[in-house]
Amino acid sequence: MMNFNDMFDVTGKVVLITGGAGGIGRGIAGAFVAGGARVYIASRSDLTEDAEELSKYGVGECIGLQADLARDEDIISLTKQIKERENKLHVLVNNAAIANLIHQFEDFPIDDFDTLIRVNLRAPFALIKECLPLMSQTGTAEAHASVINIVSVDGIRIAGDNDWAYGLSKAGLAHLTRQLAGREGAKHGRNSGRHITYNAIAPGPFPGMLDRLLETEEGRKAVGAATVSGRVGRPEDIGAACIYLASRAGSYVTGVVLPIDGGLLVGTKANS
Ligand SMILES: NC(=O)c1ccc[n+]([C@@H]2O[C@H](COP(=O)([O-])OP(=O)(O)OC[C@H]3O[C@@H](n4cnc5c(N)ncnc54)[C@H](OP(=O)(O)O)[C@@H]3O)[C@@H](O)[C@H]2O)c1
Repeated sequence: MMNFNDMFDVTGKVVLITGGAGGIGRGIAGAFVAGGARVYIASRSDLTEDAEELSKYGVGECIGLQADLARDEDIISLTKQIKERENKLHVLVNNAAIANLIHQFEDFPIDDFDTLIRVNLRAPFALIKECLPLMSQTGTAEAHASVINIVSVDGIRIAGDNDWAYGLSKAGLAHLTRQLAGREGAKHGRNSGRHITYNAIAPGPFPGMLDRLLETEEGRKAVGAATVSGRVGRPEDIGAACIYLASRAGSYVTGVVLPIDGGLLVGTKANS
């Protein structure tokens, strides 16, 4: 008999979200707290107040940790702090990123390239590696563990804004997602008793990095007009997708890059 009970249940899950107090991160953290999860958010800032605020979203709780993901030692100490408090990690969301290092390709400073790749691609690679032992002991055939990488539509389309390293970093992270997902069926994964799914979400226009463009009603309308939905995304749109991927509802989904973009990638002028 089919079982539709608790399909989207994330009660009691332990979740780590990098950049969890940012525009999109807040939507992800809020969704898991609302669903009853224990959520760790981490970034360079002191997130104590943000965590208190996010804890009000539901029966779960939110705890703020501090880490600069550009620093290897911070990635190790962040994972150590989780391991000291938890013996399981059900969900890792690599959400923190930087953008807006904009130069003509011919003038692009290689140091800017390194800075961006370090945070957007190297850090998720290292954090997944550090968290794997904890996640390996967590996922079961009935309740998988889940790595969710937040990428971007700009890692799928060719954006025209001279942010040369950003799209590249996101395309790289999407590829890492597929590589890791594919490996799970082999000797390191399911056959060794490990149950982890790896998926990526590619947001279209959302609050956060685009805040300056979205300050005015005019700006929001202009940005939203590029989508089929005709609006800018809401942080909870990404939160809901993460709940799907991390709960039993998403247990048969791995290795996908899911655009949550209001149809930005498929929209044509002819539709409008
Ligand atoms: N908003 C959009 O339109 C959009 C579109 C496509 C994809 N995305 C993706 O969605 C994700 C979230 O973006 P957002 O729009 O919510 O941006 P945001 O509001 O700027 O949030 C980014 C978060 O990353 C953290 N962060 C940056 N550098 C860090 C570092 N070195 N170490 C630790 N944390 C760091 C920031 O916190 P601290 O400053 O405290 O470190 C911040 O919380 C990103 O992966 C982004 O690429 C966003």
